Amino acid sequence: MTAVPADATPNGAADGVAAASPASGAEPTRIGIIGGTGPAGAALAARLADIGCEITLGSRSKYRSMEVVDNIVDRWPDRHLRIHPGANSLAAAEPTVVIATPWDAAAITARDVAEHLRGKVVATMSNALARVDDEFVPLIPPRGSVAASVQATLPDSRVAAALQHVPATELGNLDEPVHGDILICSDHREATWHIAEIVDRMPGARALDCGNLSNATAIEAFTAVLMQLNTRYRTRVALRLVGLDHVPISVLGGGPSGTEAAQPAAETVPD
Ligand SMILES: NC(=O)c1ccc[n+]([C@@H]2O[C@H](COP(=O)([O-])OP(=O)(O)OC[C@H]3O[C@@H](n4cnc5c(N)ncnc54)[C@H](OP(=O)(O)O)[C@@H]3O)[C@@H](O)[C@H]2O)c1
Repeated sequence: MTAVPADATPNGAADGVAAASPASGAEPTRIGIIGGTGPAGAALAARLADIGCEITLGSRSKYRSMEVVDNIVDRWPDRHLRIHPGANSLAAAEPTVVIATPWDAAAITARDVAEHLRGKVVATMSNALARVDDEFVPLIPPRGSVAASVQATLPDSRVAAALQHVPATELGNLDEPVHGDILICSDHREATWHIAEIVDRMPGARALDCGNLSNATAIEAFTAVLMQLNTRYRTRVALRLVGLDHVPISVLGGGPSGTEAAQPAAETVPD
């Protein structure tokens, strides 16, 4: 069994949403990252490009975007990462979009490019947090979460909260698996499945369907707990839930395929 429920379409994608795992020879999944120049967006761009996606890394400044793309490509010269720099509007024009701005800029930035986002799956990875002395404290945005604020701003898009808990350092280190459960929630199940399929292609990552977007409040706020643990124990923790042993970790890629165990694609099976 995988983290994606049985009523996903056979290729793991949902109706009206392009499959994230292209068959051999198919066009790569194209993803735009709004606010992609920060640690989170840049790390996600590198990781997604490494699993075969084609990325537009967006910014308010084209030149900042170019600089960040150059840095990623220079760091991983042998990986042939397909990452293009551009304005946030160019990133928003891609078929699937991730918002990686600070929490208080997410809805405003989404509104600025709303015309490009109509009908699309939009993932938000932002967390509303504040640091008070040595403590990280969660802030509750007016609609309960950053993701809910973005969904309210984009009524014609399908917003999912995802990737809140993965530290950028681990996400962007392509020599290591991601190690962790990626909690995803949305009021649009096809959006959850679509993001889950992409996440499940990341080595070591396991996508979990966490229900409706109302749960984004807990998911985003829990980031404060993880960051507190990092400070307390001088480490960077990753989330791995027990009791889900029947949900495989897709370390070999291949993505979810209904309720049967996800089989790695033949070409990815090691000798
Ligand atoms: N860092 C992590 O390890 C990590 C991991 C998971 C999730 N997250 C979450 O992801 C979000 C981004 O994290 P980050 O560390 O990458 O943040 P960041 O560096 O502070 O911001 C990311 C980018 O957002 C853009 N931005 C900043 N202020 C903006 C504004 N007022 N309006 C529009 N765009 C603005 C900037 O890009 P331009 O100036 O180029 O436009 C910036 O490079 C946060 O909410 C964080 O909680 C972070």
